[in-house]
Amino acid sequence: MTASRSATVDEFLEALLGKDEALASALARSESENLPAIAVSALQGRLLTLITQIAGARRVLEIGTLGGYSTICLARGMRSDGVLVTLELDPHHARVARANIAAANPGAHVDVIEGPALDALVEMIETGSAPFDVVFIDANKDQYPQYLEAVLQLTRAGSVIVMDNVVRQGAIADDESTDANVIGVLVALKAIAGNQRLFATVIQTVGSKGHDGFALVRVMT
Ligand code: SAH
Ligand code: DHB
Ligand code: MG
Repeated sequence: MTASRSATVDEFLEALLGKDEALASALARSESENLPAIAVSALQGRLLTLITQIAGARRVLEIGTLGGYSTICLARGMRSDGVLVTLELDPHHARVARANIAAANPGAHVDVIEGPALDALVEMIETGSAPFDVVFIDANKDQYPQYLEAVLQLTRAGSVIVMDNVVRQGAIADDESTDANVIGVLVALKAIAGNQRLFATVIQTVGSKGHDGFALVRVMT
C-alpha cells in the first residue's frame, strides 16, 4: 500500500470513528503557534487512550509533550483521581500544551514539567517517586536508551511502556545506520530484548504519519 493510500484510509477511519472537537482544537492551536505537525495520529492517540483505560491507570508519565495532543489522549483514559506527569524541553511547546490541556479538560490532573527530560527523571528517581502505571516515551530519539533505563526505575511489575517512532520508515532494520535517532531507538530495543524483566513487541504502523511503529513493553517482575 502506498503512503498516500494509507493516509487516505487513516482519514476515512478517523472520520468513521468520530472526529473529536477538543483534539481538533488542540491541533489547530498547535499549528497556529507554529509547532511541528509531529503529534501521534488520531488513531494512534485512540490506542493511547485504550492503553490507559485497560491499565486502569492512576499515574502516567510522558516524555515529550509537544502541544499536548498525546497527553490529552493518555489523560482521557485515566481514572479521574489520576495524575499525569509530562516532560518537555521547549518552553513554547510547554506553554501551548498547557493551554490545550486546560481547554480539553481531560479529567486527570496534568503536570507539564519544563526542561531536559533526563534531569526530571533523575530527580523523580532520587526523591523516591511512586511508580507509574503507564509510560509513553516520545521525546528525542537519541536518548531513548537513557529514558528507558530511568523509566525502569520509575515503574513496577505490571507497568506498561510505549515507545513511539521505533520503525522510522524502515530504517530500524539497518543495523549499520549512522543516524543518531536510529541508533538510539535500536539500542533501546536491544536493551528491551535483553532484559528478562520485560516482555515486548513492536507493531509497525502506516497512515497519515507514514511508516513507523510503536514498541509495547510490559514490566513483568
Ligand atoms: N508526544 C507528542 C509529540 C512529541 S514530539 C504527541 O504525540 O503529541 C517530541 C517532543 O520532545 C518535542 O516537543 C521536543 O521539544 C521534545 N523534546 C526534545 N528533546 C527533549 C528533551 N531532551 N527533554 C524533553 N523533551 C524533549
Ligand atoms: C517526528 C515524529 C514523531 O512522532 C516524533 O515524536 C518526533 C519527530 C517526525 O516525523 O519528524
Ligand atoms: Mg512521536
